[in-house]
Amino acid sequence: MHDNVDTKLLTEGIRQKLLSWYDQNHRDLPWRRETDPYRIWLSEVMLQQTRVNTVIPYYLRFLDKFPTLSSLANADEQEVLKLWEGLGYYARGRNFLDAVKEVQGTYGGEVPSDPVDFKKLRGVGDYSSAAVLSIAYQKPLAAVDGNVVRVTCRLFLIEDDTTKSSTLKLIKGTAKNLLDPHRPGDFNQAMMEMGAVICLPRNPQCLKCILTKECLAYQRGKAEELPLRKKTGHIPTIEYAAAIITKERRCLLHKRDRNGMLGGLWELPFIKKKNKKKNELEESFSFLLKNVVTLKKRIIQLNHTFSHQHWKVSVYPAESPDPSPDNKKNWRWANTEDISSLPFPKFYHPLLPDILKKLQQ
Ligand code: ADE
Repeated sequence: MHDNVDTKLLTEGIRQKLLSWYDQNHRDLPWRRETDPYRIWLSEVMLQQTRVNTVIPYYLRFLDKFPTLSSLANADEQEVLKLWEGLGYYARGRNFLDAVKEVQGTYGGEVPSDPVDFKKLRGVGDYSSAAVLSIAYQKPLAAVDGNVVRVTCRLFLIEDDTTKSSTLKLIKGTAKNLLDPHRPGDFNQAMMEMGAVICLPRNPQCLKCILTKECLAYQRGKAEELPLRKKTGHIPTIEYAAAIITKERRCLLHKRDRNGMLGGLWELPFIKKKNKKKNELEESFSFLLKNVVTLKKRIIQLNHTFSHQHWKVSVYPAESPDPSPDNKKNWRWANTEDISSLPFPKFYHPLLPDILKKLQQ
């Protein structure tokens, strides 16, 4: 922390510099032209864990389809997931839809401006609440995301492990004191912008930064070292086997449980592969589908890395005369139109043309 300085003056100086830098330099992003709280909220939901450039086309497409909160309140979850396809963290989309329905039903379609009410909505935590309410309603709440953690740790030389909740508490308190109460939305976005374009995780652009005089990490030559994060363990690899089973120009698909990972998305029937041999895989599939399954030669391996695990999915064309899995409502025989319109995890996309071709034969 800064010693022997007038904290109020320092804070005021940082606010002014940061805001005037933001005013002159901020990127022209679609949500920054919006005043509708629904549209601002959508941007913050999509921007969680996802880069700005990835979000932009999804954001525009989503608003094309659902321009207002009430248009989305009447939507079907599968339509929303289809628009979300490829953006990842699908619970965000499902929760946003649930929350919007709640706003329509309970608050007459108006996004609540009281943080207590807003945070009761599905998927709304401290970060989204502060970001949305500061930007849409000028509520003086500090939004602390990864960028803001980094900027704050460097400015104030916070050298504690940021995976600890006590450190996060310190960072949130520091960010709260720094927030400009007159322009909280712009201030929050200025901190995020600083983190996104100047105060980068590696190679911070200190020579372009307007806060080097105030930045304790810069002055001690420690900017690039911060924030400190205790190393997380390595990401485990899980191997799966998936089967393409077709019947009368339809392919057997399963809808994932809506509350889990990739919830509500569609996939091929699949099982854990472990070190199983072909006949053991067939046994596991037969158990899943309550019918004999014969596998042919593997056609592709799909790979996907999530934040916490790596998946390898080996895909086999297969035969099964009459699959009858439990829990019928989560299974369907999909035709080519279904395959084109249902939401799938993005890593399935390389496979879909093969399935479509098979159904057209
Ligand atoms: N990341 C999270 N919120 C953002 C915003 N409003 N602008 C740019 N990047 C962001």
